[in-house]
Amino acid sequence: MPLTFEAGPVRVRVPATSANLGPGFDALGLALGLYDDVAAEVTSGGVRVSVTGQGAGQLPQDERHLVAVAMQATFDALGGQPPGLALECVNRIPQARGLGSSSAAIVAGVLLARALVTDGAARLDDAGALRLAAEIEGHPDNVAPCLLGGFTLAWTEPSGARAVSLAVAEGVRPTLFVPQERGLTATARAALPSAVPHADAAFNAGRAALLVHALTVEPALLLPATVDRLHQGYRAAGMPGTNALVSALRAADVAAVVSGAGPTVLALTEPPEGFDPGTGWQVWRLSIEASGASFARGRLGHAERDPVAAGRKS
Ligand code: HSE
Repeated sequence: MPLTFEAGPVRVRVPATSANLGPGFDALGLALGLYDDVAAEVTSGGVRVSVTGQGAGQLPQDERHLVAVAMQATFDALGGQPPGLALECVNRIPQARGLGSSSAAIVAGVLLARALVTDGAARLDDAGALRLAAEIEGHPDNVAPCLLGGFTLAWTEPSGARAVSLAVAEGVRPTLFVPQERGLTATARAALPSAVPHADAAFNAGRAALLVHALTVEPALLLPATVDRLHQGYRAAGMPGTNALVSALRAADVAAVVSGAGPTVLALTEPPEGFDPGTGWQVWRLSIEASGASFARGRLGHAERDPVAAGRKS
């Protein structure tokens, strides 16, 4: 059946995410209360993208923009391309900092493309949207919380990515330490060895399992539950400031980890009053986004166009 497209615009709000959470490399993730808003509309030809906020003036404004790339992949999966697209992006998630900005763009693209096809949800259900987004991203640990919200456990089967979302225990309040410098996931992944000692794999299996309990039931166990031996040590030389801040926080009994591939630091328990991370760090206290990406029909409104810190608590 040929595709038919919706005439009016559609919009999505997609959350920032923190992946790995210490021992859960490529598997665990958390959705955060900081969002990008993106609207899309089918046009008669070409791809036009406007960007305000994070990445404005730096990101491509044509079919090379990651939201457009994800939309085109999704339209292919759905069975055909529209004649043209217009996108409006209001970005608040800092890019290349380990806060899931690329996954947010990919999830936005998948959901917008599906919504612009008249029977898109019948052609691509939510499980299919997760599989497609994870395939485009290359790993599922950011796209899963971005789509589902909460604390997610993601895994990959021969047919593709799957995930479940769990509610986080009361009292878990993420604090993000966001540096000016950027980090590239590809570079951070290149720092990893092709094999690790069996003892380290066993260590991480235990801590990742403990982390599921600590985040959902018993936050008092977050400090031992967030120790990692599979990625943070191998990447430390590439982000010495991040490594030093994680060590300083952990020495103060704060359950701190590298957020995703870094260089942002995520603390899952409150830093002590007056804790000083040193110069160069923005400190944000964020809520946990429980529901994940949300979708609506129509253009972005006044609130969605506000490029300042929607969702940021301080
Ligand atoms: N699990 C990924 C990594 C997350 O650490 O490389 C970053 O995209």
